[in-house]
Amino acid sequence: MDAAEFDKFAEEYLATHKDNLRISGEEPDYFARYKLDELRRLWTAKSLPEPHDVLDFGCGIGASLPWLSQAFPNARLTALDVSQKSIDIAATRFPDLATMLRYDGEVVPLAPASQDLIFSACVFHHIDHGAHVALFARLHALLRPGGRLVVFEHNPINPVTRYIVATCPFDENAHLVPAGELAKRQRSAGFGRVETRFTGFFPGPLRMLRPLEPWLAPIPVGAQYYTLAHA
Ligand SMILES: C[S@@+](CC[C@H](N)C(=O)[O-])C[C@H]1O[C@@H](n2cnc3c(N)ncnc32)[C@H](O)[C@@H]1O
Repeated sequence: MDAAEFDKFAEEYLATHKDNLRISGEEPDYFARYKLDELRRLWTAKSLPEPHDVLDFGCGIGASLPWLSQAFPNARLTALDVSQKSIDIAATRFPDLATMLRYDGEVVPLAPASQDLIFSACVFHHIDHGAHVALFARLHALLRPGGRLVVFEHNPINPVTRYIVATCPFDENAHLVPAGELAKRQRSAGFGRVETRFTGFFPGPLRMLRPLEPWLAPIPVGAQYYTLAHA
């Protein structure tokens, strides 16, 4: 993608997103929050060590920051994006939550082995697939031994997801990544074990069924999926 593609969507990002997600029966903040609720639940269930340094890679206008901060209250947060306008908006919305950095798409402005958790939500379908392995290798180098990369993505198998992406102005140049392919790319980049879980099985009107989702996680039809890759 053009590094500044999201500069032109940054100001209307929330309104556009809200409009586009109407079919799901939920507001954008629900989608930001459920990812971190899910991650926190998994972190606790697996007794993973509390991260000291957490990076939100491709933070956009900062939708995940309050929920990252709530899920990992003792962590130092860094948020990074290629879109300067998005970073400026994130910094205005959440001035005290994270250190905001611009990434030029080549050199990540962070020291090697400086992060315990890298979180990325709905970013990789905006990045040329041919660049994924090299980028995952770059992220791997940022992690301390035992660190983890968590990537949430849209599931191309799910027809509602495909409809939402096809009708979303800022997904015009998006290319969805099948879950198995994303995990394969992470392993090629040097990650050891990569676990994949599916989420987003029930739209708003069926929300009372959501407590069942942890049991459905292996079934590859949820609206989204995430990978937990171990460095
Ligand atoms: C759909 S938005 C998601 C933003 C945020 N993660 C969220 O969940 O609201 C995709 C973001 O990825 C960013 N992005 C695109 N290419 C990137 C790259 N190579 N490195 C880092 N961020 C990138 C865009 O600028 C945009 O802010």
